[in-house]
Amino acid sequence: RITQRIAYRAKLLSFRGDPAHADDAVDFEDDGLLIVEDGRVVARGAYGSLAAQLTPATEVRDLRGKMIVPGFIDTHLHYPQTDMIASPAPGLLPWLESYTFPTERRFAELAHAEETANFFLDQLLSCGTTTALVYCTVHKQSADALFAASEARNLRMIAGKVLMDRNCPDYLRDTAQSGYDDSAELIARWHGRGRQLYALTPRFAPTSTPEQLEACGALAREHADVFIQTHVAENVDEVKWVAELFPGHRSYLDVYDRRGLLRRRAIYGHCIHFDENDRLRMAEAGAVASHCPTSNLFLGSGLFDMAKADASSMPVALGTDVGGGTSFSMLQTMNEAHKVARMTGHHLTATRMFWLATAGAAQALDLGATIGTLAPRTEADFVVLDPEATPLMARRTARAESLEEWLFAFALLGDDRAVYETYAAGSCVHRRDENSEGQ
Ligand code: GUN
Ligand code: ZN
Repeated sequence: RITQRIAYRAKLLSFRGDPAHADDAVDFEDDGLLIVEDGRVVARGAYGSLAAQLTPATEVRDLRGKMIVPGFIDTHLHYPQTDMIASPAPGLLPWLESYTFPTERRFAELAHAEETANFFLDQLLSCGTTTALVYCTVHKQSADALFAASEARNLRMIAGKVLMDRNCPDYLRDTAQSGYDDSAELIARWHGRGRQLYALTPRFAPTSTPEQLEACGALAREHADVFIQTHVAENVDEVKWVAELFPGHRSYLDVYDRRGLLRRRAIYGHCIHFDENDRLRMAEAGAVASHCPTSNLFLGSGLFDMAKADASSMPVALGTDVGGGTSFSMLQTMNEAHKVARMTGHHLTATRMFWLATAGAAQALDLGATIGTLAPRTEADFVVLDPEATPLMARRTARAESLEEWLFAFALLGDDRAVYETYAAGSCVHRRDENSEGQ
């Protein structure tokens, strides 16, 4: 617990709203000051206007030349898949069969889950990600391991035990009843404990019976503020399979909708093969599409259409989807998101992508008053980015003629090397040059 007041002098980037909709959405200070105390932001603004508030006891860390941004928010990934990232397979369903399920089997063992959870959190923090929506495995101890590791570092993580009671190996199968009971137990143990939050996690419709989805919907009704996460409309073979398994539904999304799983705080991975009705229904329910470009390109799932999402006001955030995704870095995820937008005839600015990865995600997750903005009283989760991380980045950022060009260089050229330091609740939890956590 940090009670000392510390001020950080650097460029500051945050947002008042979506840069796609508001001209004054960007809040940028070229010479800024972020004042932090007791894990929260006290003030942010121009150095010149805040310097007078600094008492002699306040330590000022001089990070001039670097840029502080809110901690990145990754809205979709799987911690048990860390060990099988970059596994070759011809598409989603064969990849699940040949790599994912055998890898997830080992999480029955608590010690394995604990070791992997800690490695996974190191990876997130080295990439500047301070909040993530995390899939565990079917084993409830896999969720205990992740939450305990997150709690030990005082991170704000959202996670859940996977629900799957059919179309998967026996060794990864729960039942509608045991999945309900285990999820209820984990909610009681972890949801709202410190910074931990729970997400009901039916893997996807093909691996749950209608009874299991209904039990999940019942839990969602009993716990209005827990999160819900699943996959939808990722791959054409998967969409066909769902149509066979759930006849009489308007669409794949409708399978979840009819069980009460579409609402605020529900995050749907991929949402590629959607129609206009699906997008409008997401928007109406306040559910969020997690766009996972590195995964969608790697698995050949398809091109998410950001312009259509915007046209129907469907909330969107970004996800890495590790291990289907090929990088833990939200900067690399922006890089690929930009290219996917190009391929669908849309130009996604870096300014918007930084919003999508910070304040936009926080707002979409109903956590906008807690994280993602650097606003006073919010939790002090932030990242110090280094424009001179590599000789090429130094050369390109030195020539940037606008904020957009400067941010675009980070998004297109940056990765974990661009993350100089990461802070969670005011504590340094990663420092690049020490290659270790903490001070
Ligand atoms: N659909 C069901 N399970 C998974 C998974 O683990 N990864 C991805 N990308 N899609 C899925
Ligand atoms: Zn996924």
